[in-house]
Amino acid sequence: MSEWSEAVQERARAIVAQYPQRRSAVMPLLFLAMAQDGYLTEAGMIEVAEWTGITPAQVAAVATFYTMYKREPVGKYLVSCCTSISCMLLGSDQVMHALEEEAGALHGQVDAEGLIGVEHAECLGACGGAPAVQVNYELIEGVTPDKARQLVQWLRKARPETVNTDELQQLFGGTTSFEWAIKEEVGAVGPYPAFESFGSTAPVSADGTES
Ligand code: FES
Repeated sequence: MSEWSEAVQERARAIVAQYPQRRSAVMPLLFLAMAQDGYLTEAGMIEVAEWTGITPAQVAAVATFYTMYKREPVGKYLVSCCTSISCMLLGSDQVMHALEEEAGALHGQVDAEGLIGVEHAECLGACGGAPAVQVNYELIEGVTPDKARQLVQWLRKARPETVNTDELQQLFGGTTSFEWAIKEEVGAVGPYPAFESFGSTAPVSADGTES
């Protein structure tokens, strides 16, 4: 018996329907589970096991392998700072320090209010736009320590329902790796990727489109 609302179950059914075998839906369903509580709970993993027909241990094996599945609260806004080589050479250690200091939270911690989580991350695939930062996996390139501080202040003050890479880049970014030609349509509403199936509250039909 599912603990999820009928709307969330509808979304889960649509996700499962996209795969020849329902066990293949484990990863998107884990993000759907995260969207319910803001992080991945035991109950969420058991729910995913029921939807996919695999054991809770198998679900946990996936959830514990990938760093984007968070098993503890990470705040409404998860700020990830790349500290891999390209970013490090262009000053990401200072960016990370500025984020930690402004948020009042070290790597892996959440601020006192439970609003902003900070972490350092391995390469975010944006080396040409180093140093790179993400908020709820929405990318910002060319971030300076000053801009990092402003980002945290803005999140605290504006508390946007949705964060969107284009807006973040405009407000807090610098030089990008290339001209981003495609506009981002869907922003992130929590610390999980901004796929429509996970972020939106609108029902999703069997073919994956929202109605
Ligand atoms: S090294 Fe930072 S994005 Fe690749």
